[in-house]
Amino acid sequence: TGLITLDLGYKNTGATVSEITYLDGDQGELYYRGYPIEQIAEKSNFTEVMYLLLHGELPTEDQLNTFNGNIKKYNFVAEEMKKIIDAFPRSAHPMGVLSTLTSALTAFNPKSVNVQSKEEMDLAAELLIAKFAHLAAWTYRKTLGLPLNHGDNSLDYVENFYKMAFRLPNEEFVINPVVTAALNKLLILHADHEQNCSTSTVRMVGSAHTGLFASVSAGISALWGPLHGGANQAVIEMLELIEKDGGDVNKWVAKAKDKNDSFRLMGFGHRVYKNFDPRAKIIKKAADDLLAALGIEDKALDIAMQLEKVALEDEYFIERKLYPNVDFYSGIIYRALGIPTEMFTVMFALGRLPGWIAQWKEMRMTGDPIGRPRQVYQGAQKRDYIDIANR
Ligand code: CMC
Repeated sequence: TGLITLDLGYKNTGATVSEITYLDGDQGELYYRGYPIEQIAEKSNFTEVMYLLLHGELPTEDQLNTFNGNIKKYNFVAEEMKKIIDAFPRSAHPMGVLSTLTSALTAFNPKSVNVQSKEEMDLAAELLIAKFAHLAAWTYRKTLGLPLNHGDNSLDYVENFYKMAFRLPNEEFVINPVVTAALNKLLILHADHEQNCSTSTVRMVGSAHTGLFASVSAGISALWGPLHGGANQAVIEMLELIEKDGGDVNKWVAKAKDKNDSFRLMGFGHRVYKNFDPRAKIIKKAADDLLAALGIEDKALDIAMQLEKVALEDEYFIERKLYPNVDFYSGIIYRALGIPTEMFTVMFALGRLPGWIAQWKEMRMTGDPIGRPRQVYQGAQKRDYIDIANR
């Protein structure tokens, strides 16, 4: 079996060859299928980006219409799924509910499990994309105890999600283009990020030829963690805590530097970026713009900006090349849109979905072998079994 290379956290291990996303951590650059994230975030929309990630090219008008048409065709979820949601307590964390529902989709769409051809994979992908908007919206409504809405095919993907999630009973629902533009941008910025923890999980589970829905369900669980997607929730909770504590950012930066204190500055640092996360730059500007457009003043944004300034001038953060990441400012936007803190990571999951699917499909199409890392064993040497009476 040869020599085993130990690489904790896979910091220097390439797990696959990919053609989807490129990121340059030193320069702080990110590209989807070769297109710079700044251009995509400015000019494209989430549906088009989903197509780009899945198929490798920007769609022609015909291709986009067909893709949209397919998503609309599957824009419903089996009624029985509502019973599964009903069984959860209202206090259940939306990420746990979302992961369960995504896995449960398998039972209602058995043909999407054992897929082999590209056509079958694309069909499973479109089914999941269509139904996932329901699941994300429904987990949100569950936390509020609101009735579960069905899709509206007169709307595009993001508007449809937005209406399903946010339409209040007995209230006329009006789409605010400022809001849907901000949502499109956020979802685009989260759409893929090469071999991060949740994507590697999706690929790892899928490498056993597990179906797409179950693989993505595992990815949702990985994303939930506060060191990964859960950081967006943790950032707002941190900013609220700092505000309640009197708003002294220097004190909290000192805590983050203290090696005897487990507190870390949430939304700071990244495994690959040793420079500004390009997504954070775009989100910061979008947050500024959105708050101005909606006429909202948010103390959390002030604290975030002070925190960023102090940290970026601090030797500890400079030495370690710790910069704000995608999660640092995204929560400010979600909050301005009235999205509750617990839902932030669900929004991340909705954005990351096309990336997970594209990576799963690429792995299956390329025929990557089953993922199975090795280990360096340091446990007990061979010894004889001791009867329970003698232990
Ligand atoms: N606050 C304080 N110190 C930090 C932080 C932080 N946020 N991040 C890293 N460090 C220190 C860390 O203590 C270590 O110091 P030393 O060399 O003295 O031991 C050094 O910087 C290197 O950190 P690391 O933990 O070895 O780096 P990693 O690549 O294993 O971890 C990370 C990357 C993102 C998990 C980490 O930076 C972190 O915990 N950040 C806070 C959580 C967060 O914002 N996560 C979102 C990541 S981006 C989007 C996503 O994946 O969802």
